[in-house]
This record gives sequence, C-alpha cells and structure tokens, in this order.
Amino acid sequence: MKAKNNFYITTAIDYPSGKPHIGHAYEKILADTIARWQRSQKRNVFFLTGTDEHGQKIEKYAKQDNKSPEEFVIAMTAEFIGLCKMLNISNDDFIRTTEKRHIDVALAILKKAMDKGDIYKDKYEGYYCVDCECFYLERDLIDGKCAVHKKPADWIEEDGYFFKMSMYQQKVLDHIANNQDFIFPKTRRNEIINRIKEGVRDLSISRSNFSWGIPFPADKEHVIFVWFDALINYVSGIGYPDSPRFEDFWPADIHLIGKDILWFHTMVWMAILMSADIELPKAVFVHGFINLQGEKISKSSGVLVDPVALIEKYGADSLRYFLLREMSFGEDGNFSEQALIRRINSDLANDLGNLIHRSATMIEKYVQGNVPIKRIAEHQVTLWEFAENLNNSVAEQMQIYNFAQALSKIWEVINLANKFIEDTKPWVLFKENKQEQLSDFIFILNFVINKVQENLQPFMPETADKIQQQFSSGCIKKQEPLFPRIEDAD
Ligand code: ME8
Ligand code: MG
Repeated sequence: MKAKNNFYITTAIDYPSGKPHIGHAYEKILADTIARWQRSQKRNVFFLTGTDEHGQKIEKYAKQDNKSPEEFVIAMTAEFIGLCKMLNISNDDFIRTTEKRHIDVALAILKKAMDKGDIYKDKYEGYYCVDCECFYLERDLIDGKCAVHKKPADWIEEDGYFFKMSMYQQKVLDHIANNQDFIFPKTRRNEIINRIKEGVRDLSISRSNFSWGIPFPADKEHVIFVWFDALINYVSGIGYPDSPRFEDFWPADIHLIGKDILWFHTMVWMAILMSADIELPKAVFVHGFINLQGEKISKSSGVLVDPVALIEKYGADSLRYFLLREMSFGEDGNFSEQALIRRINSDLANDLGNLIHRSATMIEKYVQGNVPIKRIAEHQVTLWEFAENLNNSVAEQMQIYNFAQALSKIWEVINLANKFIEDTKPWVLFKENKQEQLSDFIFILNFVINKVQENLQPFMPETADKIQQQFSSGCIKKQEPLFPRIEDAD
C-alpha cells in the first residue's frame, strides 16, 4: 500500500536521437520544481526521468551517424544525463529502456496481455511517421506530411501483433469522466475525451521492418513497438512487480508530459495498465510547447536551441527562472535569447542580485557582519507581513501549479525589500550614528532575505544555496554579485 505522504513524479523519457533541446530542459525543470516543492512540504518524493532508446527513429539517426544503435544511445544518453546534472535536476533515478531491469518488465507486461487474450495477429497498414513513432490517418496528414515534423509519412503494410485497445475505450472514458483531476489542465481533458469518442482502434504493437527493439517473444521476426515498450518505464523504473519501492510509490501522482504525447499517456497507457491489472496513475500533467518564432523545436524538425550552451553562457538558474516565469503552464510560449537577457538584467541582476549584494554589504559595514536580534519596529510591518506570509502565498500558487505566479509573489517581496532600503536610507542612519534604528533595519532585512531564500529553493536551487551559505554564516560578508548584468541586451 502506498503511504499517503509518498509522492511519485515522472517525466516523459526522451528519445536520445540527437542532443537534448530546450523543450527537454523545460520539462525537466518543471518536474524538478514540483519535486523540490513537494519535498519542501515534507513529502517523501521519488522522481524518475530517463531515455527511450529503442525504435526505428533511433535506428535511423544512429545509421546517419555511422554508429550502431548501441553505441549511439550510449553517447546520446550521456548528453541527457549531463543536461540533468547541469540543470541541478534532483531525479532519484534515471531509467534507460535498454536496461535489463526494464526489458524484463516490458516482457512480463506483454505476457500478461497475451495470457488475457488481449493480443492477436493480423495485417496492418497505415501512414507512419518515424520521427513521431506513430501511425496517422490520412486526414491527419497535410499534403501527405506529418503535421509535427512536416516530413512525408511512409505507407506501411505488414503482418503484426495487435493489442485490443478498442476494448478499453469505454473504461478509459469512464475513468476520465469520474476523475476530474486526472488530466491537467482541463482543456487537454476535453481534447482527449473528444478524441476517444471519435473511436479507438486496436494498437499495432510489433514491427518487423527494422530490428532495434525488444524481440517479440515467440516471433523473432518482430520487435515490440517502441511506445508499448517505453510507457512501461514508469513501473519498471520503480521495480514492478515486487520491489518495495513499487509498493511504496505506485500509483504515480504525476506523469508530466508535453501536449504531443497525450494520447499515448491517456488512452494507450491506461489500456495497458488495465490489461495488466495495475492501478492507474493519479494524474497526467500536460505542458505546452516552447516555440522559436512560432516553429516547434525538435531534433527531427531541425530547429534547435541548445540548453547546454545557454546554461554555460547564463547559468542554470537563469534558464530555470526564465522558463518558469515566462511560460504559462499548459500553454505554448516563445523562446528568445533577447527575452532571456532582459529577464536576467531586470529580475535577476537588478532586483534579486542587488538586494542580496547591497544587503550583505550593509550588514558587513554597519554591524560588522552580525545580525542583531530585535523586535519589529512598528513602521516596517508591511514588508514583514508580506515576507512572513510568503510561504503561504507561494504554496497557494503551487497548489494550482502556477509557477509564474508563485515567482511573482517572491518578486513582490524582493521589490518591497529594495523599496524598504530606499525609504529607510540606512546610509543616513549610519552617518548620524543611529545605531538602534540601524539594528532594526538590518534585522528585518535579514528576515526577509531568509524568507526569499527559502521560497526560491525549488525554483532556483543553486542561487538559494548560495544565499543560504552567505546569510547563515556567523559573519555576513559581501560577495561577488549573483547575476552579472549582460551588457549586449537589445
Ligand atoms: O516523445 N517544447 O520523446 P521526445 C516543450 N520518447 N516540450 C517539448 C518540446 C518543445 N519544443 N519538444 C518535445 C518522446 N517536448 C517519447 C516519450 S514517454 C513514455 C516517451 C517534450 O524526446 C515532449 O512533449 O520526442 C515530451 O514530453 C518530451 O519532450 C520528450 O520528447
Ligand atoms: Mg517528440
């Protein structure tokens, strides 16, 4: 039985068919912020991410790179793991679908479906987009091309194995109808209800026109369709069927995914779980796409923004802050380096960076680095109250996963604190040797900075740690600015 306090969050597992792009970084940042926030609420969190290493798409890109698929995924997955490290992603494990622990579980779940009579052999045909790894109906294509990658879909006719997904159509619909919070945000819920109502066809779960996949048991000409294999990572990654971790953490609290793979995570995954008699996850969270001048970014469409280069140039927390602040969860948004630089200069260098830098400078100069213990002076109550209430106002926003609004609550306090400094004019107090008032001022400022630091932690862990180190030392000293201004803005 899962303990109430345990919280399990997953991301989609990425195709390591090329280097990670900013969409991958965005999803990991979102999941990490949720994981860290839940930990701050004393939840016992398990956070899983990983890579989806089988399939025709991987085979194709490996070939283009003159590598075997094995060599290719080892090299590319290292890039994804590297990105997680650079972004300070706090995942508890990283699952690769080529690992034995995963393959064993995928085969076990396929066997359950077979034993149930949910698998049959037939001929299948349809349009297939290798980059999406999925079939399309003719009406989904635009001039014969897939709408996502704008590449011609292949017409495929093969013998293969089918999963009786259509049998689960009504059960999945009922589940979505009976669980208002199963798909977040609501707009995606309606979208999927309509799509399921249009009709659900059985799913082809084997392929024989390439070989990079888990061999299909009892028919070595075939490999398991990559999506059937990949979705199972959410349970193989926590040791289904009999590891204590599976007992402790399943069902997942949140499967975090992008909008293009909603069908697979609702209709397909739920049907697989129902077939295998595994409890259903509690929620599927669907984020929007990051676009570049209106074009979707993806490895296979050729439009790329390299998150590693951005982190090297501006730091992990700048990118984390920008994406969490500028994107509205569930909606698409645009990425531009100019907009990132503007946010760094105004919000990070100016508002936050200045507050920290000048505060430390004043504490060092006016009270020799020692924060005095004081009572609160009457006239400073507004800022104090705002800071004291910050945990609540951030929590209020985080309960509805409004990251941008949560950050703006923190910035409200940062800006009030800067204004408090301007209004109090401590440099005058110092000149006039008003030690008592200066002590009050420093005491409040330090309290506010601690609140800001505490609340920043899930969003900007590196920055929060730096502030904590600086302000929890017995002797506070000024240090290098946290965020240098970027000079070539606009
Ligand atoms: O779909 N903006 O892998 P993937 C935001 N292996 N998110 C984006 C994005 C963008 N421009 N581009 C992609 C797969 N994503 C499968 C998943 S899960 C069992 C298997 C998101 O590398 C995308 O929506 O194509 C998905 O959630 C994740 O990145 C991985 O995409
Ligand atoms: Mg994709």
